[in-house]
Amino acid sequence: MATLLHKILEQKLQEAVSIVLGDAGAAALLVRPCPDPKFGDYQTNALMALAKARKMNPRQLAAEVAAKLDIAQWCEPVEVAGAGFLNFRLKPSALAQALREAADGRHLFFQKTSEPRCVIIDFSSPNAAKPMHVGHIRSTILGDALARVLRLLGHHVITDNHIGDWGTQFGKLLVGWKSHLDPERLRANPIEEMERLYKLVNAQCESDPQVLENARQELVKLQAGDEENLRLWREMIALSQTQFEWVYARLGVKFDYSLGESYYQPMLKKVVDELAERGLAQPSEGAMMVYFEDLPELKDHPAMVRKSDGGFNYTTTDLATLLFRWQGGTWSVRPNEIIYVTGAPQQLHFKQLFAVFRRWHSEAHVKLAHVWFGSVLGEGGKPFKTRSGETVRLEDLLDEAEERALKVVSAKNPDLDQAQRGEIARVVGLGAIKYADLAQNRQSDYVFSWDKMLALQGNTAPYLLYAYTRIRSIFRKGGESVTGGEGEFVLAAPEELALARHLLNFGLVLDAAAEDYRPNFLCEYLYELAGHFARFYENCPVLKSEEANRATRLGLCDVTARVLKQGLGVLGIETTEQM
Ligand code: ARG
Repeated sequence: MATLLHKILEQKLQEAVSIVLGDAGAAALLVRPCPDPKFGDYQTNALMALAKARKMNPRQLAAEVAAKLDIAQWCEPVEVAGAGFLNFRLKPSALAQALREAADGRHLFFQKTSEPRCVIIDFSSPNAAKPMHVGHIRSTILGDALARVLRLLGHHVITDNHIGDWGTQFGKLLVGWKSHLDPERLRANPIEEMERLYKLVNAQCESDPQVLENARQELVKLQAGDEENLRLWREMIALSQTQFEWVYARLGVKFDYSLGESYYQPMLKKVVDELAERGLAQPSEGAMMVYFEDLPELKDHPAMVRKSDGGFNYTTTDLATLLFRWQGGTWSVRPNEIIYVTGAPQQLHFKQLFAVFRRWHSEAHVKLAHVWFGSVLGEGGKPFKTRSGETVRLEDLLDEAEERALKVVSAKNPDLDQAQRGEIARVVGLGAIKYADLAQNRQSDYVFSWDKMLALQGNTAPYLLYAYTRIRSIFRKGGESVTGGEGEFVLAAPEELALARHLLNFGLVLDAAAEDYRPNFLCEYLYELAGHFARFYENCPVLKSEEANRATRLGLCDVTARVLKQGLGVLGIETTEQM
Protein backbone atom coordinates (compact mmCIF):
# COMPACT_ATOMS: atom_id res chain seq x y z
CA MET A 1 0.00 0.00 0.00
CA ALA A 2 1.32 3.39 -0.96
CA THR A 3 1.63 6.06 1.70
CA LEU A 4 -0.77 8.98 1.55
CA LEU A 5 0.74 12.37 0.87
CA HIS A 6 -0.33 14.09 4.06
CA LYS A 7 1.11 11.17 6.01
CA ILE A 8 4.41 11.56 4.17
CA LEU A 9 4.41 15.25 5.01
CA GLU A 10 3.71 14.49 8.67
CA GLN A 11 6.61 12.09 8.77
CA LYS A 12 8.96 14.51 7.07
CA LEU A 13 7.86 17.24 9.44
CA GLN A 14 8.62 14.99 12.37
CA GLU A 15 12.11 14.36 10.98
CA ALA A 16 12.81 18.05 10.44
CA VAL A 17 11.63 18.89 13.94
CA SER A 18 13.93 16.30 15.46
CA ILE A 19 16.87 17.72 13.54
CA VAL A 20 16.11 21.24 14.78
CA LEU A 21 15.13 20.43 18.35
CA GLY A 22 17.11 17.27 18.94
CA ASP A 23 13.85 15.44 19.67
CA ALA A 24 10.45 15.47 18.01
CA GLY A 25 8.36 16.34 21.04
CA ALA A 26 5.71 13.99 22.32
CA ALA A 27 2.66 15.25 20.45
CA ALA A 28 1.89 14.10 16.92
CA LEU A 29 2.58 16.79 14.33
CA LEU A 30 -0.51 16.95 12.18
CA VAL A 31 -0.77 18.16 8.61
CA ARG A 32 -4.27 19.15 7.53
CA PRO A 33 -5.89 20.67 4.45
CA CYS A 34 -5.29 24.39 4.21
CA PRO A 35 -8.54 26.17 5.09
CA ASP A 36 -7.94 28.61 2.26
CA PRO A 37 -6.54 27.02 -0.91
CA LYS A 38 -5.00 30.40 -1.82
CA PHE A 39 -2.26 29.67 0.70
CA GLY A 40 -1.56 26.07 -0.14
CA ASP A 41 -2.90 22.54 -0.10
CA TYR A 42 -1.87 21.54 3.40
CA GLN A 43 -0.95 23.32 6.54
CA THR A 44 0.41 22.61 10.00
CA ASN A 45 -0.06 24.66 13.13
CA ALA A 46 1.82 22.15 15.27
CA LEU A 47 5.02 24.19 15.44
CA MET A 48 3.33 27.03 17.30
CA ALA A 49 2.35 24.75 20.17
CA LEU A 50 5.83 23.26 20.15
CA ALA A 51 7.44 26.72 20.27
CA LYS A 52 5.13 27.86 23.02
CA ALA A 53 5.96 24.84 25.19
CA ARG A 54 9.65 25.65 24.77
CA LYS A 55 9.32 29.40 25.05
CA MET A 56 10.72 29.86 21.55
CA ASN A 57 9.77 32.34 18.85
CA PRO A 58 7.23 30.40 16.77
CA ARG A 59 8.02 32.02 13.43
CA GLN A 60 11.70 31.40 13.95
CA LEU A 61 11.13 27.77 14.84
CA ALA A 62 8.90 27.41 11.78
CA ALA A 63 11.60 28.92 9.55
CA GLU A 64 14.28 26.63 10.97
CA VAL A 65 12.10 23.56 10.52
CA ALA A 66 11.18 24.67 6.99
CA ALA A 67 14.88 24.88 6.13
CA LYS A 68 15.36 21.28 7.19
CA LEU A 69 12.26 19.90 5.50
CA ASP A 70 13.22 17.35 2.90
CA ILE A 71 10.09 17.43 0.76
CA ALA A 72 11.17 18.94 -2.55
CA GLN A 73 10.05 15.76 -4.26
CA TRP A 74 6.40 16.51 -3.41
CA CYS A 75 6.12 20.21 -2.59
CA GLU A 76 7.00 23.66 -3.79
CA PRO A 77 9.28 25.55 -1.39
CA VAL A 78 7.50 25.80 1.95
CA GLU A 79 6.27 29.13 3.28
CA VAL A 80 6.10 30.28 6.87
CA ALA A 81 2.82 32.10 7.38
CA GLY A 82 1.04 34.04 10.09
CA ALA A 83 2.14 33.38 13.63
CA GLY A 84 4.12 30.28 12.67
CA PHE A 85 2.09 28.14 10.32
CA LEU A 86 3.76 26.18 7.57
CA ASN A 87 1.89 26.01 4.30
CA PHE A 88 2.57 23.26 1.83
CA ARG A 89 1.79 23.43 -1.86
CA LEU A 90 1.89 20.13 -3.71
CA LYS A 91 3.63 19.85 -7.04
CA PRO A 92 1.36 18.73 -9.87
CA SER A 93 3.65 15.75 -10.32
CA ALA A 94 2.99 14.64 -6.74
CA LEU A 95 -0.75 14.96 -7.24
CA ALA A 96 -0.47 13.03 -10.48
CA GLN A 97 1.46 10.28 -8.79
CA ALA A 98 -1.10 9.92 -6.00
CA LEU A 99 -3.80 9.74 -8.64
CA ARG A 100 -1.87 7.09 -10.55
CA GLU A 101 -1.60 5.00 -7.39
CA ALA A 102 -5.32 5.29 -6.80
CA ALA A 103 -6.09 4.41 -10.41
CA ASP A 104 -3.94 1.33 -9.97
CA GLY A 105 -5.96 0.35 -6.92
CA ARG A 106 -3.10 0.85 -4.49
CA HIS A 107 -5.20 3.08 -2.24
CA LEU A 108 -8.31 5.22 -2.40
CA PHE A 109 -6.86 8.19 -0.51
CA PHE A 110 -7.53 6.70 2.91
CA GLN A 111 -5.65 4.40 5.21
CA LYS A 112 -6.82 1.97 7.79
CA THR A 113 -6.00 3.11 11.31
CA SER A 114 -2.78 1.95 12.90
CA GLU A 115 -4.62 1.82 16.25
CA PRO A 116 -7.79 -0.22 15.77
CA ARG A 117 -10.27 0.07 18.59
CA CYS A 118 -13.22 -2.03 19.60
CA VAL A 119 -16.33 0.12 19.32
CA ILE A 120 -19.84 -0.93 20.30
CA ILE A 121 -22.63 1.00 18.61
CA ASP A 122 -26.10 0.89 20.14
CA PHE A 123 -28.55 2.20 17.58
CA SER A 124 -32.05 1.89 16.12
CA SER A 125 -33.32 0.22 19.32
CA PRO A 126 -37.07 0.49 18.62
CA ASN A 127 -39.74 -0.58 21.05
CA ALA A 128 -41.38 -3.94 20.51
CA ALA A 129 -45.07 -4.42 19.68
CA LYS A 130 -45.21 -0.96 18.12
CA PRO A 131 -44.70 -0.04 14.50
CA MET A 132 -41.35 1.54 13.73
CA HIS A 133 -41.85 5.16 12.86
CA VAL A 134 -39.93 7.95 11.24
CA GLY A 135 -38.27 8.86 14.54
CA HIS A 136 -36.38 5.58 14.41
CA ILE A 137 -35.05 6.37 10.99
CA ARG A 138 -32.44 8.82 12.17
CA SER A 139 -31.00 6.45 14.73
CA THR A 140 -30.97 3.57 12.27
CA ILE A 141 -29.45 5.48 9.38
CA LEU A 142 -26.96 7.44 11.45
CA GLY A 143 -25.86 4.44 13.50
CA ASP A 144 -25.43 2.31 10.41
CA ALA A 145 -23.36 4.98 8.66
CA LEU A 146 -21.11 5.40 11.71
CA ALA A 147 -20.63 1.65 11.94
CA ARG A 148 -19.67 1.51 8.26
CA VAL A 149 -17.24 4.42 8.45
CA LEU A 150 -15.51 3.02 11.54
CA ARG A 151 -15.26 -0.41 9.96
CA LEU A 152 -13.85 1.00 6.75
CA LEU A 153 -11.16 2.71 8.80
CA GLY A 154 -10.21 -0.62 10.31
CA HIS A 155 -11.89 -0.51 13.72
CA HIS A 156 -13.54 -3.53 15.26
CA VAL A 157 -17.20 -2.56 15.38
CA ILE A 158 -19.94 -4.43 17.23
CA THR A 159 -23.49 -3.31 16.51
CA ASP A 160 -26.17 -4.00 19.11
CA ASN A 161 -29.87 -3.27 18.72
CA HIS A 162 -31.14 -2.54 22.24
CA ILE A 163 -34.77 -3.33 21.53
CA GLY A 164 -37.32 -2.07 24.04
CA ASP A 165 -38.91 -5.44 24.67
CA TRP A 166 -39.67 -5.19 28.38
CA GLY A 167 -41.62 -2.02 29.00
CA THR A 168 -44.84 -1.29 30.88
CA GLN A 169 -46.65 -1.45 27.53
CA PHE A 170 -46.82 -5.22 27.92
CA GLY A 171 -49.27 -5.04 30.83
CA LYS A 172 -51.77 -3.27 28.60
CA LEU A 173 -50.97 -5.45 25.64
CA LEU A 174 -51.59 -8.59 27.66
CA VAL A 175 -55.00 -7.33 28.79
CA GLY A 176 -55.84 -6.50 25.17
CA TRP A 177 -54.53 -9.79 23.84
CA LYS A 178 -56.50 -11.83 26.36
CA SER A 179 -59.83 -10.07 25.93
CA HIS A 180 -59.98 -8.32 22.55
CA LEU A 181 -57.69 -10.18 20.17
CA ASP A 182 -59.00 -10.55 16.61
CA PRO A 183 -57.19 -13.59 15.12
CA GLU A 184 -58.10 -12.53 11.56
CA ARG A 185 -56.50 -9.15 11.97
CA LEU A 186 -53.55 -10.64 13.76
CA ARG A 187 -52.86 -12.88 10.79
CA ALA A 188 -53.27 -10.05 8.28
CA ASN A 189 -51.10 -7.49 10.05
CA PRO A 190 -49.76 -8.41 13.47
CA ILE A 191 -48.18 -5.07 14.29
CA GLU A 192 -51.31 -3.17 13.41
CA GLU A 193 -53.38 -5.51 15.56
CA MET A 194 -51.04 -5.12 18.52
CA GLU A 195 -51.14 -1.40 18.06
CA ARG A 196 -54.95 -1.50 17.98
CA LEU A 197 -55.03 -3.56 21.19
CA TYR A 198 -52.61 -1.24 22.91
CA LYS A 199 -54.55 1.87 21.96
CA LEU A 200 -57.85 0.30 22.94
CA VAL A 201 -56.70 -0.73 26.41
CA ASN A 202 -54.80 2.49 26.87
CA ALA A 203 -57.99 4.44 26.24
CA GLN A 204 -59.96 2.19 28.61
CA CYS A 205 -57.36 2.74 31.32
CA GLU A 206 -57.95 6.46 31.19
CA SER A 207 -61.60 6.12 32.12
CA ASP A 208 -61.68 2.84 34.04
CA PRO A 209 -59.30 2.35 36.99
CA GLN A 210 -60.16 -1.35 37.06
CA VAL A 211 -58.63 -1.87 33.60
CA LEU A 212 -55.53 0.01 34.69
CA GLU A 213 -55.27 -2.26 37.72
CA ASN A 214 -55.68 -5.36 35.50
CA ALA A 215 -52.88 -4.15 33.27
CA ARG A 216 -50.67 -3.60 36.27
CA GLN A 217 -51.36 -7.11 37.50
CA GLU A 218 -50.66 -8.68 34.13
CA LEU A 219 -47.33 -6.87 34.08
CA VAL A 220 -46.48 -8.05 37.59
CA LYS A 221 -47.36 -11.62 36.57
CA LEU A 222 -45.19 -11.36 33.48
CA GLN A 223 -42.29 -10.03 35.49
CA ALA A 224 -42.74 -12.79 38.06
CA GLY A 225 -42.38 -15.38 35.29
CA ASP A 226 -46.02 -16.44 34.83
CA GLU A 227 -45.92 -19.08 32.13
CA GLU A 228 -48.87 -18.02 30.05
CA ASN A 229 -47.90 -14.35 30.07
CA LEU A 230 -44.35 -15.21 29.14
CA ARG A 231 -45.61 -17.30 26.24
CA LEU A 232 -47.79 -14.45 24.92
CA TRP A 233 -44.99 -11.97 25.44
CA ARG A 234 -42.63 -14.17 23.43
CA GLU A 235 -45.17 -14.37 20.64
CA MET A 236 -45.53 -10.59 20.54
CA ILE A 237 -41.75 -10.14 20.49
CA ALA A 238 -41.35 -12.63 17.68
CA LEU A 239 -43.97 -10.83 15.61
CA SER A 240 -42.25 -7.48 16.17
CA GLN A 241 -38.89 -8.93 15.34
CA THR A 242 -40.21 -10.09 11.99
CA GLN A 243 -41.39 -6.60 11.20
CA PHE A 244 -38.12 -5.00 12.29
CA GLU A 245 -36.13 -7.44 10.22
CA TRP A 246 -38.17 -6.67 7.15
CA VAL A 247 -37.46 -2.95 7.52
CA TYR A 248 -33.76 -3.54 8.22
CA ALA A 249 -33.45 -5.78 5.18
CA ARG A 250 -34.93 -3.05 3.02
CA LEU A 251 -32.57 -0.48 4.48
CA GLY A 252 -29.60 -2.85 4.20
CA VAL A 253 -28.89 -2.57 7.92
CA LYS A 254 -27.45 -5.49 9.88
CA PHE A 255 -26.87 -6.00 13.58
CA ASP A 256 -24.34 -8.26 15.20
CA TYR A 257 -26.54 -8.51 18.28
CA SER A 258 -30.09 -7.70 19.22
CA LEU A 259 -30.00 -8.06 22.97
CA GLY A 260 -33.17 -6.33 24.05
CA GLU A 261 -33.93 -4.86 27.44
CA SER A 262 -35.41 -8.16 28.61
CA TYR A 263 -31.99 -9.78 28.35
CA TYR A 264 -30.76 -7.74 31.29
CA GLN A 265 -33.69 -8.31 33.65
CA PRO A 266 -31.97 -11.01 35.70
CA MET A 267 -29.07 -8.62 36.38
CA LEU A 268 -31.01 -5.61 37.64
CA LYS A 269 -31.37 -6.47 41.31
CA LYS A 270 -27.63 -6.96 41.64
CA VAL A 271 -26.97 -3.56 40.06
CA VAL A 272 -29.07 -1.73 42.64
CA ASP A 273 -27.77 -3.86 45.53
CA GLU A 274 -24.21 -3.04 44.59
CA LEU A 275 -24.90 0.66 44.24
CA ALA A 276 -26.59 0.64 47.64
CA GLU A 277 -23.82 -1.35 49.32
CA ARG A 278 -21.20 1.06 48.08
CA GLY A 279 -23.22 4.01 49.25
CA LEU A 280 -23.66 5.28 45.71
CA ALA A 281 -27.45 4.94 45.77
CA GLN A 282 -29.63 6.16 48.63
CA PRO A 283 -33.22 5.41 49.58
CA SER A 284 -35.67 8.26 49.14
CA GLU A 285 -39.41 7.88 49.67
CA GLY A 286 -39.21 4.20 48.90
CA ALA A 287 -37.20 4.68 45.71
CA MET A 288 -33.43 4.35 45.25
CA MET A 289 -31.64 7.43 43.97
CA VAL A 290 -28.13 8.41 42.95
CA TYR A 291 -27.28 12.05 43.74
CA PHE A 292 -24.61 14.07 41.99
CA GLU A 293 -23.79 16.88 44.42
CA ASP A 294 -20.35 17.39 42.85
CA LEU A 295 -21.55 17.69 39.26
CA PRO A 296 -23.08 21.13 38.62
CA GLU A 297 -24.89 19.90 35.53
CA LEU A 298 -26.57 17.03 37.34
CA LYS A 299 -26.85 18.52 40.80
CA ASP A 300 -30.58 19.04 40.43
CA HIS A 301 -31.15 15.83 38.49
CA PRO A 302 -30.60 12.76 40.65
CA ALA A 303 -30.99 9.46 38.82
CA MET A 304 -33.61 6.97 39.95
CA VAL A 305 -32.37 3.39 39.80
CA ARG A 306 -35.33 1.73 41.49
CA LYS A 307 -38.90 2.96 41.64
CA SER A 308 -40.87 3.23 44.86
CA ASP A 309 -42.97 0.20 43.85
CA GLY A 310 -39.75 -1.82 43.74
CA GLY A 311 -39.66 -1.94 39.94
CA PHE A 312 -36.57 -1.20 37.93
CA ASN A 313 -36.46 1.35 35.14
CA TYR A 314 -34.73 2.43 31.93
CA THR A 315 -31.67 3.64 33.87
CA THR A 316 -31.30 0.38 35.80
CA THR A 317 -31.50 -1.60 32.57
CA ASP A 318 -28.97 0.65 30.88
CA LEU A 319 -26.57 0.33 33.83
CA ALA A 320 -26.73 -3.45 33.62
CA THR A 321 -26.28 -3.26 29.84
CA LEU A 322 -23.30 -0.97 30.13
CA LEU A 323 -21.57 -3.21 32.66
CA PHE A 324 -22.27 -6.27 30.53
CA ARG A 325 -20.78 -4.58 27.49
CA TRP A 326 -17.79 -3.27 29.36
CA GLN A 327 -17.10 -6.78 30.61
CA GLY A 328 -17.02 -8.04 27.05
CA GLY A 329 -20.60 -9.16 26.56
CA THR A 330 -21.00 -12.54 24.93
CA TRP A 331 -18.38 -11.56 22.37
CA SER A 332 -15.57 -11.52 24.99
CA VAL A 333 -13.83 -8.37 23.84
CA ARG A 334 -13.62 -5.33 26.06
CA PRO A 335 -14.69 -2.25 24.13
CA ASN A 336 -12.59 0.90 23.95
CA GLU A 337 -15.66 2.89 23.18
CA ILE A 338 -19.46 2.61 23.36
CA ILE A 339 -21.64 4.86 21.23
CA TYR A 340 -25.37 5.38 21.80
CA VAL A 341 -27.40 6.88 18.98
CA THR A 342 -30.74 8.36 20.12
CA GLY A 343 -32.81 11.51 19.94
CA ALA A 344 -32.00 14.71 21.80
CA PRO A 345 -34.56 14.18 24.60
CA GLN A 346 -32.41 11.40 26.03
CA GLN A 347 -29.41 13.62 26.75
CA LEU A 348 -30.11 13.83 30.46
CA HIS A 349 -30.61 10.09 30.69
CA PHE A 350 -27.20 9.39 29.17
CA LYS A 351 -25.43 12.01 31.27
CA GLN A 352 -26.84 10.35 34.36
CA LEU A 353 -26.05 6.88 33.08
CA PHE A 354 -22.44 7.72 32.33
CA ALA A 355 -22.00 9.56 35.63
CA VAL A 356 -23.35 6.65 37.69
CA PHE A 357 -21.24 4.18 35.76
CA ARG A 358 -18.05 6.20 36.23
CA ARG A 359 -18.51 6.09 40.00
CA TRP A 360 -19.56 2.49 40.04
CA HIS A 361 -16.66 1.32 37.85
CA SER A 362 -14.01 4.00 38.03
CA GLU A 363 -11.44 1.49 36.73
CA ALA A 364 -13.24 1.23 33.38
CA HIS A 365 -11.21 2.88 30.64
CA VAL A 366 -13.90 3.17 28.06
CA LYS A 367 -15.02 6.16 26.07
CA LEU A 368 -18.77 6.69 26.36
CA ALA A 369 -20.49 8.80 23.75
CA HIS A 370 -24.09 9.85 23.37
CA VAL A 371 -24.52 10.72 19.71
CA TRP A 372 -27.82 12.56 19.76
CA PHE A 373 -29.92 14.05 17.00
CA GLY A 374 -32.79 16.46 16.47
CA SER A 375 -36.29 15.70 15.23
CA VAL A 376 -37.69 15.15 11.78
CA LEU A 377 -40.34 17.81 11.14
CA GLY A 378 -43.12 18.02 8.60
CA GLU A 379 -43.30 20.87 6.13
CA GLY A 380 -44.22 23.98 8.06
CA GLY A 381 -41.99 22.95 10.95
CA LYS A 382 -44.66 20.94 12.79
CA PRO A 383 -44.03 17.38 13.98
CA PHE A 384 -43.95 14.99 11.04
CA LYS A 385 -47.38 13.32 10.80
CA THR A 386 -49.66 11.79 8.16
CA ARG A 387 -52.52 13.91 6.87
CA SER A 388 -54.88 12.32 9.35
CA GLY A 389 -52.50 13.18 12.17
CA GLU A 390 -50.99 9.74 12.74
CA THR A 391 -47.27 9.13 13.08
CA VAL A 392 -45.79 8.14 9.75
CA ARG A 393 -44.72 4.52 9.59
CA LEU A 394 -41.29 3.73 8.35
CA GLU A 395 -42.60 1.10 5.94
CA ASP A 396 -45.06 3.48 4.31
CA LEU A 397 -42.35 6.08 4.09
CA LEU A 398 -40.01 3.71 2.26
CA ASP A 399 -42.79 2.69 -0.13
CA GLU A 400 -43.57 6.28 -0.91
CA ALA A 401 -39.89 7.07 -1.47
CA GLU A 402 -39.65 4.34 -4.08
CA GLU A 403 -42.89 5.38 -5.77
CA ARG A 404 -41.81 8.99 -6.01
CA ALA A 405 -38.35 8.02 -7.18
CA LEU A 406 -39.94 5.90 -9.90
CA LYS A 407 -41.61 9.04 -11.28
CA VAL A 408 -38.31 10.89 -11.30
CA VAL A 409 -36.54 7.99 -12.99
CA SER A 410 -39.28 7.42 -15.56
CA ALA A 411 -39.27 11.08 -16.52
CA LYS A 412 -35.52 11.09 -16.89
CA ASN A 413 -35.11 7.85 -18.73
CA PRO A 414 -38.38 6.60 -20.23
CA ASP A 415 -36.60 4.09 -22.47
CA LEU A 416 -35.52 1.78 -19.69
CA ASP A 417 -37.73 -1.22 -19.18
CA GLN A 418 -40.01 -1.41 -16.19
CA ALA A 419 -37.96 -3.82 -14.10
CA GLN A 420 -34.84 -1.71 -14.55
CA ARG A 421 -36.69 1.44 -13.64
CA GLY A 422 -38.10 -0.25 -10.56
CA GLU A 423 -34.67 -1.29 -9.37
CA ILE A 424 -33.19 2.16 -10.02
CA ALA A 425 -36.13 3.75 -8.19
CA ARG A 426 -35.44 1.54 -5.19
CA VAL A 427 -31.80 2.67 -5.04
CA VAL A 428 -32.67 6.32 -5.63
CA GLY A 429 -35.66 6.40 -3.28
CA LEU A 430 -33.93 4.77 -0.33
CA GLY A 431 -30.76 6.69 -1.06
CA ALA A 432 -32.70 9.96 -1.05
CA ILE A 433 -34.22 9.28 2.36
CA LYS A 434 -30.92 8.22 3.87
CA TYR A 435 -28.93 11.02 2.34
CA ALA A 436 -31.41 13.73 3.35
CA ASP A 437 -30.98 12.56 6.89
CA LEU A 438 -27.22 12.13 6.90
CA ALA A 439 -26.47 15.41 5.14
CA GLN A 440 -27.90 17.41 8.06
CA ASN A 441 -26.02 18.58 11.06
CA ARG A 442 -27.42 15.77 13.19
CA GLN A 443 -28.13 18.02 16.13
CA SER A 444 -30.53 20.22 14.20
CA ASP A 445 -34.15 19.43 13.50
CA TYR A 446 -34.82 19.08 9.82
CA VAL A 447 -37.86 19.42 7.65
CA PHE A 448 -38.74 16.30 5.74
CA SER A 449 -39.34 17.33 2.15
CA TRP A 450 -39.87 14.88 -0.69
CA ASP A 451 -39.23 17.54 -3.30
CA LYS A 452 -35.93 18.57 -1.81
CA MET A 453 -34.57 15.10 -1.21
CA LEU A 454 -35.55 13.85 -4.67
CA ALA A 455 -34.27 16.89 -6.54
CA LEU A 456 -31.70 16.19 -9.23
CA GLN A 457 -29.90 19.41 -8.33
CA GLY A 458 -28.32 20.33 -5.02
CA ASN A 459 -26.88 18.33 -2.17
CA THR A 460 -29.06 15.25 -2.67
CA ALA A 461 -28.65 11.54 -3.31
CA PRO A 462 -30.21 11.73 -6.80
CA TYR A 463 -27.68 14.40 -7.80
CA LEU A 464 -24.74 12.30 -6.60
CA LEU A 465 -26.12 9.08 -8.02
CA TYR A 466 -26.65 10.77 -11.33
CA ALA A 467 -23.12 12.18 -11.29
CA TYR A 468 -21.89 8.66 -10.72
CA THR A 469 -23.89 7.24 -13.65
CA ARG A 470 -22.60 9.99 -15.91
CA ILE A 471 -19.04 9.01 -15.21
CA ARG A 472 -19.82 5.36 -15.70
CA SER A 473 -21.40 6.13 -19.05
CA ILE A 474 -18.10 7.60 -20.24
CA PHE A 475 -16.60 4.17 -19.83
CA ARG A 476 -19.51 2.48 -21.55
CA LYS A 477 -19.18 4.84 -24.50
CA GLY A 478 -15.41 4.47 -24.69
CA GLY A 479 -15.68 0.69 -24.70
CA GLU A 480 -12.52 -1.36 -24.49
CA SER A 481 -10.17 1.38 -25.53
CA VAL A 482 -10.31 3.17 -22.18
CA THR A 483 -9.26 0.32 -19.97
CA GLY A 484 -5.70 -0.24 -18.85
CA GLY A 485 -3.33 2.63 -19.41
CA GLU A 486 0.28 2.59 -18.34
CA GLY A 487 2.59 5.49 -17.79
CA GLU A 488 2.47 8.64 -15.78
CA PHE A 489 -0.45 10.96 -15.42
CA VAL A 490 0.10 14.61 -16.18
CA LEU A 491 -2.14 17.17 -14.51
CA ALA A 492 -2.16 20.64 -16.04
CA ALA A 493 -5.59 22.25 -16.43
CA PRO A 494 -6.77 24.07 -13.29
CA GLU A 495 -9.93 21.94 -13.19
CA GLU A 496 -7.87 18.75 -13.31
CA LEU A 497 -5.70 19.98 -10.47
CA ALA A 498 -8.66 21.10 -8.38
CA LEU A 499 -10.37 17.74 -8.80
CA ALA A 500 -7.21 15.82 -7.95
CA ARG A 501 -6.64 17.93 -4.84
CA HIS A 502 -10.15 17.30 -3.66
CA LEU A 503 -9.85 13.56 -4.24
CA LEU A 504 -6.78 13.53 -2.05
CA ASN A 505 -8.79 14.69 0.96
CA PHE A 506 -11.17 11.74 1.04
CA GLY A 507 -9.33 9.98 3.86
CA LEU A 508 -9.07 13.07 6.02
CA VAL A 509 -12.80 13.58 5.69
CA LEU A 510 -13.51 9.97 6.64
CA ASP A 511 -11.32 10.42 9.71
CA ALA A 512 -13.13 13.61 10.68
CA ALA A 513 -16.57 12.04 10.21
CA ALA A 514 -15.57 9.13 12.45
CA GLU A 515 -13.93 11.35 15.02
CA ASP A 516 -16.92 13.68 15.45
CA TYR A 517 -19.62 11.11 14.63
CA ARG A 518 -20.74 13.34 11.78
CA PRO A 519 -21.45 11.69 8.44
CA ASN A 520 -22.57 15.08 7.12
CA PHE A 521 -18.87 15.96 6.67
CA LEU A 522 -18.72 13.16 4.15
CA CYS A 523 -21.92 14.29 2.41
CA GLU A 524 -20.50 17.78 2.06
CA TYR A 525 -17.28 16.34 0.66
CA LEU A 526 -19.08 14.18 -1.91
CA TYR A 527 -21.26 17.07 -3.00
CA GLU A 528 -18.16 19.20 -3.55
CA LEU A 529 -16.50 16.31 -5.35
CA ALA A 530 -19.40 16.12 -7.80
CA GLY A 531 -19.07 19.87 -8.33
CA HIS A 532 -15.35 19.64 -9.05
CA PHE A 533 -16.03 16.81 -11.42
CA ALA A 534 -18.72 18.76 -13.27
CA ARG A 535 -16.35 21.71 -13.78
CA PHE A 536 -13.59 19.40 -14.94
CA TYR A 537 -15.88 17.59 -17.34
CA GLU A 538 -17.19 20.82 -18.79
CA ASN A 539 -13.73 22.19 -19.48
CA CYS A 540 -11.64 19.15 -20.26
CA PRO A 541 -12.76 16.81 -23.03
CA VAL A 542 -12.12 13.20 -22.07
CA LEU A 543 -12.83 10.72 -24.85
CA LYS A 544 -12.14 13.31 -27.54
CA SER A 545 -8.91 14.58 -26.03
CA GLU A 546 -5.41 13.96 -27.30
CA GLU A 547 -3.76 10.71 -26.38
CA ALA A 548 -1.49 12.39 -23.81
CA ASN A 549 -4.38 13.89 -21.86
CA ARG A 550 -6.73 11.02 -22.34
CA ALA A 551 -5.13 8.60 -19.90
CA THR A 552 -4.96 11.18 -17.11
CA ARG A 553 -8.52 12.32 -17.69
CA LEU A 554 -9.87 8.81 -17.77
CA GLY A 555 -7.91 8.18 -14.60
CA LEU A 556 -9.61 11.18 -12.99
CA CYS A 557 -13.01 9.92 -14.11
CA ASP A 558 -12.40 6.43 -12.86
CA VAL A 559 -11.05 7.45 -9.49
CA THR A 560 -13.82 10.02 -8.98
CA ALA A 561 -16.41 7.31 -9.64
CA ARG A 562 -14.71 5.02 -7.18
CA VAL A 563 -14.58 7.63 -4.45
CA LEU A 564 -18.24 8.48 -5.06
CA LYS A 565 -19.20 4.83 -4.85
CA GLN A 566 -17.12 4.20 -1.76
CA GLY A 567 -18.34 7.40 -0.12
CA LEU A 568 -21.98 6.65 -0.76
CA GLY A 569 -21.46 3.02 0.17
CA VAL A 570 -20.06 3.94 3.54
CA LEU A 571 -23.16 6.07 4.11
CA GLY A 572 -25.23 2.94 3.44
CA ILE A 573 -26.29 4.13 -0.02
CA GLU A 574 -26.15 1.85 -3.05
CA THR A 575 -25.21 3.10 -6.49
CA THR A 576 -26.69 2.30 -9.86
CA GLU A 577 -24.96 2.20 -13.24
CA GLN A 578 -27.74 3.98 -15.10
CA MET A 579 -30.35 6.52 -14.22
N1 ARG B 1 -35.80 2.04 23.02
C1 ARG B 1 -35.37 3.38 23.22
C2 ARG B 1 -36.31 4.35 22.48
O1 ARG B 1 -36.99 3.98 21.54
C3 ARG B 1 -33.94 3.64 22.73
C4 ARG B 1 -32.87 2.82 23.39
C5 ARG B 1 -31.50 3.39 23.18
N2 ARG B 1 -30.45 2.61 23.77
C6 ARG B 1 -30.20 2.50 25.07
N3 ARG B 1 -29.25 1.70 25.47
N4 ARG B 1 -30.87 3.20 25.95
O2 ARG B 1 -36.34 5.50 22.86
